[in-house]
Parts: sequence; structure tokens; C-alpha cells
Amino acid sequence: MPALVLLGAQWGDEGKGKATDLLGGSVDYVVRYQGGNNAGHTVVVGDQKYALHLLPSGILSPGCTPVIGNGVVVDPSVLFSELNGLNERGVDTSKLLISGNAHIITPYNVTVDKVTERFLGKRKIGTTGRGIGPTYADKINRVGIRVQDLYDESILTQKVEAALDVKNQMLTKLYNRRAIAVEQVVEELLGYADKLAPYVADTVLVLNQALDEDKVVLFEGGQGTLLDIDHGTYPFVTSSNPTAGGACTGAGVGPTKISRVIGILKAYTTRVGAGPFPTELFDEDGEALRRIGGERGVTTGRDRRCGWFDAVIARYATRVNGLTDFFLTKLDVLTGWEQIPVCVAYEIDGRRVEELPYSQTDFHHAKPVYEMLPGWNEDISKAKTFADLPKNAQAYVKALEEMSGAPISAIGVGPGRDETIEINSFI
Ligand code: GDP
Ligand code: IMO
Ligand code: MG
Repeated sequence: MPALVLLGAQWGDEGKGKATDLLGGSVDYVVRYQGGNNAGHTVVVGDQKYALHLLPSGILSPGCTPVIGNGVVVDPSVLFSELNGLNERGVDTSKLLISGNAHIITPYNVTVDKVTERFLGKRKIGTTGRGIGPTYADKINRVGIRVQDLYDESILTQKVEAALDVKNQMLTKLYNRRAIAVEQVVEELLGYADKLAPYVADTVLVLNQALDEDKVVLFEGGQGTLLDIDHGTYPFVTSSNPTAGGACTGAGVGPTKISRVIGILKAYTTRVGAGPFPTELFDEDGEALRRIGGERGVTTGRDRRCGWFDAVIARYATRVNGLTDFFLTKLDVLTGWEQIPVCVAYEIDGRRVEELPYSQTDFHHAKPVYEMLPGWNEDISKAKTFADLPKNAQAYVKALEEMSGAPISAIGVGPGRDETIEINSFI
């Protein structure tokens, strides 16, 4: 019954795509359980680079069945452009399964995302503008459109009518935009029905049967722990649950089935969009991390905000996800610093605080307390074992492990599949 969850331990972009792809060769199913095409997962295979947004990274491993679970929000236009892009590069995507209960990102959800952000002005969240929040809002408001609705025109029409009722009032009267016609939306959505049909399945049944047969299932999170709607830096979060519990609700698999929860952890910290970020750097070190780490968003092309490693956040991720392991990524990016600051606690209004404060006000006031760790200059990108790392790099990893509360079982020293040091096997 080996079910593994692989998720972001920080604010996203930790290297989940690479880690998933690495395990893809040894697992039977890779399942996205939340989020949508707000994600941007880069996978480098040999000299080929792939940017995946909606599709699970397991799609690049021939033996693996990729699954889009019920907790995901699906933009059909993005789905087909991603599938076509992969097919043109010779990737077989025919095994893909999509839950009939997954919600659809409609064109009006994308419009609402954009106008809401514009309306918020300087209070905006900095969303990816892909319609994620409004689609989850419709789901919770019980006016969402599900994949299965595409197969009953009458129900689909009623649902689109219900969804647009209030939205059209809002768009025309509040946001000064044109109303969206029900027929136009229904026609567009019905246009996807036949193309989607071969992929639609009862994914809950498929996954539970697979687990009963001792198949290996890997749940691939989008976003990250601090972007979780419940456990993240609300309201500067995404609208789903990337944390471990989200894998259960977003795929229909019970918590007793999950055997391992792997937190992907960058050796420093990045964030895209607005919101508090205690270790953020505004100096040449931040610029250097951005340049060396290639920290530019795969989805929106925005520069990522960069800062030093924050152990308070890593400890929090261990706690809320019940992490069994960490996969530390991008250690190579830190090569060349004489000393590397690591945030071990916060100072909040004159007090030293060791754990993430639950109060948003406190977190906004948190100042990092740094410990300086000695750096290294040797190129580590060819390291294959922990012993190949320079002593100071080993000490940096050990210190992070000690502070973060779970063993570091793999270390990324470059973007490629083989640029990885495996310490404990995951499967
Ligand atoms: P994800 O959203 O968590 O999948 O992460 P992204 O793909 O958005 O961002 C991570 C970036 O770092 C990608 O460009 C990866 O190719 C790259 N990457 C992943 N692991 C490593 C690593 O260990 N070292 C280096 N230098 N790059 C890495
Ligand atoms: P991956 O899977 C980093 C951020 C956005 C914004 C907030 C809400 O590649 O790690 P949304 O469009 O989801 O409503 O935006 O969440 N965000 C991400 N940041 N990586 C991601 O995905 C993200 N997905 C959303 O920048 O701050
Ligand atoms: Mg990303």
C-alpha cells in the first residue's frame, strides 16, 4: 500500500516537478490533487526541458499513469494545448485519467480573477490570473461546473445560468464590463466534451483499487504549504489545500493509506506574488540568488522574490504535513558565498519567537534572527553521494535537517534528473 505525498514546504517553486519526475520511473500513478494551471513545474530530462502547468509531472515517465484528481480545477483550453505540446515532442499522453468530479475553470472565472485583482488595487494578492480562486469559490458556493456536466447539455445550461446570474450583475454594475452570454459559454464547453471523453474516469475507484493491488501511487502537490488556504499566509495564499490532507480530499484516498509525506524544500526561500516574507532580501545577495537560481516564474514570467533559508517555516511545514522526509533542492545555487545566513527564529516586537506565529499581524512584524553558517566554493553539481560534498556543504545540510525536524533524504545539486544525491530511498 505505498502511497506517497510529495508537496511544497515553502511558498511554491521548490522543485516539485523535478522530484516527481525523478520518482516517476518507480511509481505506477502520479496524481495531482489540487490547484490547476497556476502551477508551473519545470522538468529537465537530458537536454529536453518541459514546463508543465496542469498535467502531473509523471506524464513524462512512460510506465506511469498520470491522474488529475477531483480536487483539481481544469481549464480545458490549457489542458489541450499542454497535451498537444507534449504530443508534438513525442510524449505519449494517452494514459491520462481525469476525474469526472474535477471542476472546470470557465472563461468567466478567468475574467472574474482578473477584474477582482484590478479592483483590489494595491491590496491585490498577485494571483496568476488563471481563474483559480473564482473557480474554487464557485465550487464552495455550489455553482461550479464539473467535468461530468459536459455530458448533459440541459444540466450544463442550467448550471452556467446559475453561475452567471450574480456574476453578470457584478461584471456590468460594479466592474463596468460587458455581460457574458450563457449560450456562448455552453457552446464553448460542449466543444470540449468529445475530446475529453476518453480521459474521464472514476479516479477514486481506480486509485483505491490500485492501492489494494499494492501499486505505488505518488500524489504531486501544486503550490506549497505557506500558500495553503487554511495553513498558509492568508489572505496571500492560493484557494486550495496543497498540504498533505489535501491529497486525501483531492483524490478520494483515506489518510490511513498514506505511508510517506515528502516535503520539497529549497536551500533558500522564494515567493511569487504579494504577502509577508521575513527573510526576503532587497540587496545584491537577493539579486544573486535570483540570477544564479534562475528564479523567474514558469507560469507568469514574474521575477521571484528571494531570501535566505527560513527554518521556522520548514519546522511549520513538518508539523502541518506530518512530513516523514525532506528533499532539499538547489543546494548548488548557494556555492560561492563565504557565509550563509539561516533564519533560526523571529524577533517580533522585541520577543524571540521560535515557531510560526498564528497571528497575521505578528507574522507581518517578524524580523529574522540569523545564524551564520560557513559557505563553500567547490562546484558540487557532479556530487553523487553525501560524502562527495565539501565539508561545509555537508554541515549546512545537517544544520538544516536538525532545525527543520525531518530527515533530508535527497539533495538536488542541479536541475537534471541525475543531478541528485539520494540518501534514503523513497520507495
Ligand atoms: P516547482 O513548481 O516546485 O515544480 O518548481 P519550479 O519548476 O517552478 O522551479 C524550480 C526550478 O529549479 C526549475 O527551473 C527546476 O528545473 C530547477 N531545479 C530543481 N531542482 C534543482 C536543483 O537542485 N538545482 C538547480 N540548480 N535547479 C533545480
Ligand atoms: P507551483 O506549483 C508559486 C501564488 C501566486 C499568488 C497566490 C495566489 O509552481 O509551486 P492563484 O493564481 O493561485 O490564485 O494565486 O499564489 N502561486 C504560486 N506561487 N508557485 C506556484 O505554483 C503558485 N501558484 C500560485 O503567485 O501569490
Ligand atoms: Mg513552479
